[in-house]
Amino acid sequence: MALEFARVTEAAALAAARWVGKGDKETADDAAVTAMRVMFDTVSVDGIVVIGEGEMDEAPMLYIGEKVGIGIPPQVDIAVDPLEGTNLVAKGLNGAIAVLAIAPRGTLLHAPDMYMDKIAAGPECKGRIHLDATVKENLWEVARSLDKLISEVTVVILDRPRHQGIVEEIRRAGARIKLISDGDISPAVAAAYPDSGVDLLIGIGGAPEGVITAAAMKCMGGDFQARLCPEDQNEVNRCHEMGITNLNKIFTIDELVKSEDVIFAATGITDSFLIKGVRYYKRRAVTQTLVMRSLSGTIRNIEADHHLDRKPMFKDKRLKSIME
Ligand code: FBP
Repeated sequence: MALEFARVTEAAALAAARWVGKGDKETADDAAVTAMRVMFDTVSVDGIVVIGEGEMDEAPMLYIGEKVGIGIPPQVDIAVDPLEGTNLVAKGLNGAIAVLAIAPRGTLLHAPDMYMDKIAAGPECKGRIHLDATVKENLWEVARSLDKLISEVTVVILDRPRHQGIVEEIRRAGARIKLISDGDISPAVAAAYPDSGVDLLIGIGGAPEGVITAAAMKCMGGDFQARLCPEDQNEVNRCHEMGITNLNKIFTIDELVKSEDVIFAATGITDSFLIKGVRYYKRRAVTQTLVMRSLSGTIRNIEADHHLDRKPMFKDKRLKSIME
């Protein structure tokens, strides 16, 4: 199974990588979505997309509720982000990945497409960070847990006006900051790696990305907490429809991903904190993919060397029309 899912994210990464730096995030996203969809047609699961490209009337493929896989057990929920960091690919910047999470049917939170406040750190910090603690308190806990000085702790945060206050608090506390323009899954997951250069991710990003992050953190034993941030009455209503009446509710990893058995796979499109991006040579392309399973705790780092002229996916009509 791990290899099957690696092939799915590899396909999306290989398709999107052709659009690196071309200033066309829509086509890059189309290519990634189509490649992922084409590859899912070969996977032995009975899957339903619970986090995807949007509602059925908004997205032609990988929409919420779409069935994917060849339709034989296991029955699973699938959360996909075929191109996490569309702007990053358009501008040729670091941090773009193709990513998915898979868990038994009914166990992934069907997070609505709205903002989510998040905090993520590695296994040493588990139980010591809290979304409602002050930035300074969290930084102290991370420093203590990792046996670092606060001035050696690195926090990653999306570079957005909404984070100005947090950035000032981090600076006052004396920690290091890496501001990123997009893509908060990869730095959150990287926080669980001791030598990734990331110790803590905080700030508000997408809720769907939050569920995928929780899946990875479950596999790695890291900590992650999140709270939905509805911005208008419509989004508040969506929370209510989901049965979330307490809008201050902090979701734990186990509430975002209810099963003990979740698989996370991510392939680099451009280089990131987590993995290398697609590299081309002589009609071939090398990909790096991280595949993890929470049940076994196995973390696979798969480097694949693809012969581009022999890949069946590039011959599929659906993808061919976008790639040519
Ligand atoms: P894309 O959907 O364009 O790939 O952007 C992804 C992302 O950067 C996430 O990683 C992040 O959680 C969210 O968008 C941030 O949203 P916003 O750009 O509205 O601040």
